[in-house]
Parts: sequence; C-alpha cells; structure tokens
Amino acid sequence: MAEFRLPTNSIVKKGNHYPAPNGATNTRKFSVYRYDPDSGKNPRVDTYDVDMDTCGPMVLDAIIKIKSEMDATLSFRRSCREGICGSCAMNINGSNTLACTMALADIEDDVSIYPLPHQPVVKDLVSDLTNFYAQYASIEPWLKSDTPAPPDRERLQSPAEREKLDGLYECILCACCSTSCPSYWWNSERYLGPAALLASYRWLVDSRDDNTGERLDAVEDPYKLYRCHTIMNCAQVCPKGLNPAQAIAETKKMLVERRI
Ligand code: SF4
Ligand code: SF4
Ligand code: FES
Repeated sequence: MAEFRLPTNSIVKKGNHYPAPNGATNTRKFSVYRYDPDSGKNPRVDTYDVDMDTCGPMVLDAIIKIKSEMDATLSFRRSCREGICGSCAMNINGSNTLACTMALADIEDDVSIYPLPHQPVVKDLVSDLTNFYAQYASIEPWLKSDTPAPPDRERLQSPAEREKLDGLYECILCACCSTSCPSYWWNSERYLGPAALLASYRWLVDSRDDNTGERLDAVEDPYKLYRCHTIMNCAQVCPKGLNPAQAIAETKKMLVERRI
C-alpha cells in the first residue's frame, strides 16, 4: 500500500531560524509549525538545526531538545514516551503518528512537524481535541449490563469471547486515525470518525454488554456512521496497528443483519 501523506501546507509563512550550536558537525533541519491564536499573528514555520550527536533517537527526543536548548516557547503534548498515552500524536512529514515512537532513522528527509490536521490549534503542536473526546464519550464507552455483577468474581468470558476484543481494546485515543480521515475533516461535527466508531464496536462485541441494540440505534445515522467511505487512511496511520475501517464495516454488517 502506498504511504499516506497529507499535502504540505504551503500557505504557512517561514518564521525564525535557530542555528545549531557552535562546533556542531552533524545537524538536521526540523521545520516546526508555530501558531499562537491569542497573539493575533498568522501561523509560521520555524526551522531548527538540531545537533544530532547530542539528540536521542526519536522525533520526540528532538522536540524536547528544541524546547530545552533552543526555543522554550514551543508547545507540544507528551507524557509516557512509550506509545501508550497517545498525547504526542502529530503530523510528521505528512503522516499522522506518535512522535515518541517515530524513529528519526526512519525519516530520510528533513523533518517537518505539524499538529494533527483539521483540528483547532490551542498552540503550536497542541490540537484542541474537545470534539474528538466528546464523540468518544457519546458512544458511552463503558459496560452496560442488565444483570448485577456476581458478588464473588468478575464477569467471566470464554477465551473465544475475549478474543473478539483483540484489535479493539488497544486503542490509545491518539486521534491519528480520525484526523487523517477525509470524511472526518469535512464532517467532524456530525461524523463520529474512526476512533469513536472503533470504540463503539469494541462494546458491541463485548459478550458481557447487554446494550447492543441501543448501541446500534445510537450509531445508525447517515452522518454518525455512514460517512465512512472506506478510504482506509485510518488503518494506514494507526500507530497501534489497529483497523478502525474494519470495525466500521463490521458495525454496518451488524446493522444489516439485525434487519434480516
Ligand atoms: S475507512 Fe472510513 S473512517 Fe477510515 S479513513 Fe476512510 S472514511 Fe475515514
Ligand atoms: S484507532 Fe489507532 S489511530 Fe485511532 S485513536 Fe486508536 S490508537 Fe489512535
Ligand atoms: S508520549 Fe505517550 S504516546 Fe507518545
């Protein structure tokens, strides 16, 4: 499959250039999107020549180095630096991914770093994911059962029932998929997007959940679900190797089957 790349934003103006420290012989250019909506100024792209001899191996290492040693005003999110929390999701050389698991050795060119596409920007690389999280909350991502939990043990599943959750429960809500989805770009207020729909499907196939009918009713909507046109960007960019498009297709199949 061809690599999915977003168009580079050619409108954003060149900004400041930060040279490498004196004596650095092994440098690499990082172009980083800078925008502070509160400033009233237009976005710009600053460039940083980073000394690679004193930089860690991941894109996040370079961003942390830029902030620590070259430009303390740069804003970005990160927490675990292990591909677990999802907070360092950003657009690196045209593709959404996690900065902490993106190895600099795997990028051939200069490095260009933008926030996740088509989301409001809080500052620099920090996207406003309020709508994304509200959509996740809207699918009610918790167990809904008609029966009380057994007093002396967990609600049990067979190995086969548990296996159905593989490829679903691992989602870290990084938003790489939804913000790479053209349908989501144009209809993000009404289309739930691949991340929320993957989460919805995770509960639809949970043998312990008794709310399947209501959950299907909640997503059976021309916009919430059926804006997915199987473009597959979501599966291509997911840093956890998940396939939201397949979960969406399975949800559509469940809706067809319940009509039969
Ligand atoms: S498969 Fe569906 S959810 Fe995934 S990118 Fe395409 S339209 Fe979006
Ligand atoms: S499905 Fe993958 S890309 Fe989408 S939010 Fe979950 S972990 Fe991120
Ligand atoms: S810092 Fe947690 S996923 Fe990158």
